[in-house]
Amino acid sequence: MITTGQKIAIEETKHSRLPGTDLANVKFGRTFSDHMFVMDFADGEWREPRIVPYADLQMSPACLVLHYAQTIFEGLKAYRSADGSVNLFRPQANIARMNKSAHRMCMPHIPEELFMDALLQLVGKDRGWIPGDEEGALYIRPFMYAADEFIGVRTAETYRFIIFTCPVRGYYTEAVKVKIETHYSRAFPGGTGEAKCGGNYAASLYPAKLAHDKGYHQLVWTDGMEHKYIEESGTMNIFLRIGDTLVTPDTDGTILHGVTRDSIIQLARREGIPTEVRRVTVEEVVNALRNGTLKEAFGAGTAATIAHIRSIAHEDREFELPSVEDREYATKLGGMLDDIRRGRAADTFGWMVPVR
Ligand code: COI
Repeated sequence: MITTGQKIAIEETKHSRLPGTDLANVKFGRTFSDHMFVMDFADGEWREPRIVPYADLQMSPACLVLHYAQTIFEGLKAYRSADGSVNLFRPQANIARMNKSAHRMCMPHIPEELFMDALLQLVGKDRGWIPGDEEGALYIRPFMYAADEFIGVRTAETYRFIIFTCPVRGYYTEAVKVKIETHYSRAFPGGTGEAKCGGNYAASLYPAKLAHDKGYHQLVWTDGMEHKYIEESGTMNIFLRIGDTLVTPDTDGTILHGVTRDSIIQLARREGIPTEVRRVTVEEVVNALRNGTLKEAFGAGTAATIAHIRSIAHEDREFELPSVEDREYATKLGGMLDDIRRGRAADTFGWMVPVR
């Protein structure tokens, strides 16, 4: 049984892959650091927290998660500052969100202190994997899955929780073209839209593929009932600058509570940028595109931080937005976030957690 402060067992890799890795040229999500954190849940308690060499998993073909998708995940990052120190960005927010997702998906709560300890020890061990330049960071992927060997449909009794990390650089290499989706849905009231569960992402793939086939990078999701309100952009929250106001949809159960989203809202308010968190209609956005008052649009998420939107299509019209060089709000807010994360600006919000 795990009690607060319980020791994490550590097995170091005997064959680090770091010397053979070109950190300056990693592609997002394809290179994995030397170690991972693992612990198992059985008989109502978490057991055997351990850091071990990163390796494949062994599981039964009847493993519950493979059939009914009882799985949740998180994404957060560690950054290296110019003085060599390493910090996690808002890990408490990801820990809290993961436990909210766990609740929605009938999965066990993870003790916050142990979660944090696991993050700090794992990142501390593989700190050499963090690309030190402006583009680079260590992407951290905690996830949990139902581990029962059983194919009846019910809540699992056993779970595995793992954290692994990947050195990353940019997520998108260019501003994205998006299309407002008015047929398929990502989420609906009473569903799992605000949980970070695997099924949400699986369900988004087919409509995203149709859009991709037509030359769009991503979809702008609208509400599942009427397709009247803007919700998210691809796997990110969406921000729009209409006139001089920064607008983002409010989270009412169908939209992910993005940590980057929240950070941008806080920074924008601190900077005195008029910021509205409210329902945004497709009609309002299309009107703003038509009359040229939609000056900026971007997705906000951990992987990309800010993904500029180059054009927005609606029905059979495609609207080009002003060039990325003229995006005053996105440039300013993205720059401020980066400065805080990389230790160049004071962390007045208390967002950074040092890895010793
Ligand atoms: C993020 O932007 O952080 C995401 O959730 C994308 C991830 C699924 C790769």
